Order: sequence, then structure tokens, then C-alpha cells
Amino acid sequence: MRLIIMPDPHSATRLAANEIASLMTARNSPVLGLATGRTMEGVYRDLCVMHREEGLDFSTTTSFNLDEYAGLSADDRRSYHHYMNSLLFNHVNIRLSAAHLPAGDASDLDAECTAYEKLIETSGGIDLQLLGIGDTGHIGFNEPPSPFDSRTRCVALNRKTRIQNGGMFGGNPDNVPTHALTMGVGTILEARHLLLLALGKSKAAIVAKALEGAVGPEVSASAIRLHPQCTVILDAESASTLSVETRSQALYQESQD
Ligand code: F6R
Repeated sequence: MRLIIMPDPHSATRLAANEIASLMTARNSPVLGLATGRTMEGVYRDLCVMHREEGLDFSTTTSFNLDEYAGLSADDRRSYHHYMNSLLFNHVNIRLSAAHLPAGDASDLDAECTAYEKLIETSGGIDLQLLGIGDTGHIGFNEPPSPFDSRTRCVALNRKTRIQNGGMFGGNPDNVPTHALTMGVGTILEARHLLLLALGKSKAAIVAKALEGAVGPEVSASAIRLHPQCTVILDAESASTLSVETRSQALYQESQD
């Protein structure tokens, strides 16, 4: 695992965007695994700037998002489809037909999950999977316990996650959908590279648990430690409770500003 601790959120998101852009320029037809949530907002802002000002080309890119709320349609403003359109897809030259998210309003959610897995496979697999980490230690919406061989499926959201994500739902966790479609931990581990990004003090405890605690289904994010090509980018605050030993293995970078 390559651990990089950046001085602040801005430099951390910029580095994550640079890593994605490098992969995109190195491949003819890159396949990206994307994530949503507050952590990723800065990454997508930076990628949009790179597209506009430096000509970063998305025309041959295929993407697969990690997850979507069950019951929400693509045009629902609270959906992850809407998040991706408004923060990234509408501002870059990606083909919308190649930008995939699971359909939260599919009539048969199990069939939708199976089809999503198949589509990832027929696209040749994911080159780089971007990951955030939730308060429960989830990656995607893989709530504890999530077996490390789990596949794309419909899951019940943990109460903590519904509280964490209440903001888009009028601040009321009870309004957050009870279920979501998510790539499984096994699906995520099949990506050729993993890139986990965490920002802010509120992530410090769960980041330490994921990187230093037991590797197992109780903390899905701990699974990334089993992956041979994994980069973790933290800002100083999210890294603040890591042990001296872990920090000594990290690469510290000065602010790029
Ligand atoms: C979202 C996702 C989740 C988030 C995580 C952190 O697609 O897969 O695992 O990355 O819940 O969310 P934020 O960034 O809002 O703290």
C-alpha cells in the first residue's frame, strides 16, 4: 500500500485528480470506477478544470460508479446519477452512454445488480477504482459485515450511514433510502488499482481502524490492504490518529500551492 499524507484537503484532492488523469492518459480506453459523496467533490472540480484548461480527454473513457440509492430515479436530485451529472459528466466530454451507475429504480434490483457486474466484466474490468470511506468503514455501501467476496447487490443501509448522508435529504436520516445498490467488496478488489481518499478530522478514527485494525468484514475498507496496487491519500486531519509507525511509512508531500 502506498500511503500519502498531504497537508490539506485541497492538495489531497488535487493529487487524487492527478492520479486519475495520469491513468487516463496512459490508457487508450480507460475504465474508471467512480465514487460520490462530499470527499469527491473537489476531485471532480479538479478534473473539470483539467478538462477545460489542459484538454484532459474523456472521450474514450468508460466509467462505473460504485453505488446508487434504491428507489431513486436518475433524474431525482438526491440520486448519485444527478450528483455525477452535475459535478462531472455535464462538464467533460465523456460519452453518457459509457458512464454507468446502477439503476436505483429498476423493477428487478437483483437482475440490475447481475447485469451491472456483467457490464463491468465485458468492459474489460476497472483500471482504477476511486474510493471514499464511510463512518461505518464502508467502501461503496458495503456495510458491516460485508464478506470480501461479495458482489454487486442490494444492501440495507446502516443507521450511521443514513445519518452521515442525511444532508441531501433535508437533514433527516429517516428520509434517506433504507437500501442501496452497491458494487461488492469482491467486485472492488478486482479493479487493477485502488485509490482511497479521506479528508477531515471526522474520518480520522475510521481511517486508523481501516489501516491499522483487523482486516475483516467488520470494516470493509480494511480489504484494500489485501490489494497489491493500492494508494491511500489522506489530508493531515484524517491521518491525525495514525500511529507513529504507520506515519513513518507514509510519503509526506508539501503543499502544491
Ligand atoms: C459513495 C460511496 C461511499 C462514500 C462514503 C464517504 O459513492 O461509495 O462509500 O465514499 O460514504 O462519503 P463522504 O465523502 O460524503 O464522507
